[in-house]
Amino acid sequence: MKKKNKSKHAHAFPTLAVCAGEEDRFPYGAVTKPIYQTSTFAFKNTAELIEFQKGDPNKYLYTRYGNPTLRAVEEKMAVLEGGEAGLVVSSGMAAVSTIALTLVSSGEEIISTEPVYGGTYHLFKNVFPNLNIKVHFVSPEEIEEAKDLLNSKTKLFFCETPTNPNLKVSDIKKFAKIARQKKIPVVVDNTFATPYNQKPLCLGADFVVHSATKYLGGHSDLVAGVIVGKKKIIDQARETMKVFGCCIDPLGAFLLLRGLKTLAIRVEKQNQNATKVASFLSKHKKVGKVFYPGLSNHSQHGLAKKQMQGFGGMLCFEVKGDLKSAIKVMDGFKLFINATSLGGVESLASIPVLTSHYGFNQRELEKAGVIPGMIRLSCGIEDSDDLVEDLRQASKEGRRI
Ligand SMILES: Cc1ncc(COP(=O)(O)O)c(C=O)c1O
Repeated sequence: MKKKNKSKHAHAFPTLAVCAGEEDRFPYGAVTKPIYQTSTFAFKNTAELIEFQKGDPNKYLYTRYGNPTLRAVEEKMAVLEGGEAGLVVSSGMAAVSTIALTLVSSGEEIISTEPVYGGTYHLFKNVFPNLNIKVHFVSPEEIEEAKDLLNSKTKLFFCETPTNPNLKVSDIKKFAKIARQKKIPVVVDNTFATPYNQKPLCLGADFVVHSATKYLGGHSDLVAGVIVGKKKIIDQARETMKVFGCCIDPLGAFLLLRGLKTLAIRVEKQNQNATKVASFLSKHKKVGKVFYPGLSNHSQHGLAKKQMQGFGGMLCFEVKGDLKSAIKVMDGFKLFINATSLGGVESLASIPVLTSHYGFNQRELEKAGVIPGMIRLSCGIEDSDDLVEDLRQASKEGRRI
């Protein structure tokens, strides 16, 4: 309920996270955006309905098409990512499939970095071929290979960075430069980084997608997705979303809006916690490799430093030994919760071969760079010493892991 900022002073990210998309005065002077928990909207008369049909942005017809609570999320996210427009949908997978099927049709092709989130991989590898859409994969380390795969059928470049679970980083600028030669749109999944740590649109990407279920919501209490980018295509993506029916409900959108207001302070703390935890683990004698882009021995630390403002709250480490050793550490945690997902205020731990990469064969695991003894951590906002102490006691000397 802030007045419009008419001065030249540009607000910083934490301020925008609180205020953007919520400039209008709400009914009865409410400080927070109301939850417009309604499926349909009434018109005073038919003239008003015709105004809606002609495109009046302040009129609504039906919540699957649009709703004021959803719109506040869309406007806030457009500002935070630095894009023209946003679209909020029912999940991260809805965001990925909606933007992909808005840009690509049967007979056309996609070039994607690999690894990508398991659901996205399944969509690209198994579902899209049934629609006669072919997806080529390139590794983040060999992004130049996209040049050789590019042809007249290519309609989308897709990139997820950093990746799950071993935090590989793709060079967004380089990927976008290759795509730009043929005017091909670039979509970046910015879920792990968040706009606080990484701004793909400023690095040459055209669209950003999020599993808003993670850091944007931030409290492990909702499932949502967001797309941000050029208005013309976002309008088309809304049409795709309308027919797929993957709209979010107003209560979910409200929770997301509330979560977004604290994004900056949460992610700042999560960056700090992950840095401390990664540093502790990298000196631990029962730990093999630690994967965190903020560590100077991470293979792409230089690139991460260039394109990220913070290294994020996610990290992964190898417990020396095998899966059994990793399970012992997992079952010894008192603070880290054994749960999949990520990005919430509470710290979570998971074993990729038992969760995100369950059922992968040896060759697929090798390709993904995943070994059985790996544990992935999503650092929350607890005290960093408490998190380190939990890792210490779960893997303590004398404890046979
Ligand atoms: C990077 C990434 N993208 C997309 C998704 C899919 O998001 P959702 O579960 O909200 O559909 C996930 C889920 O874990 C993810 O980690």
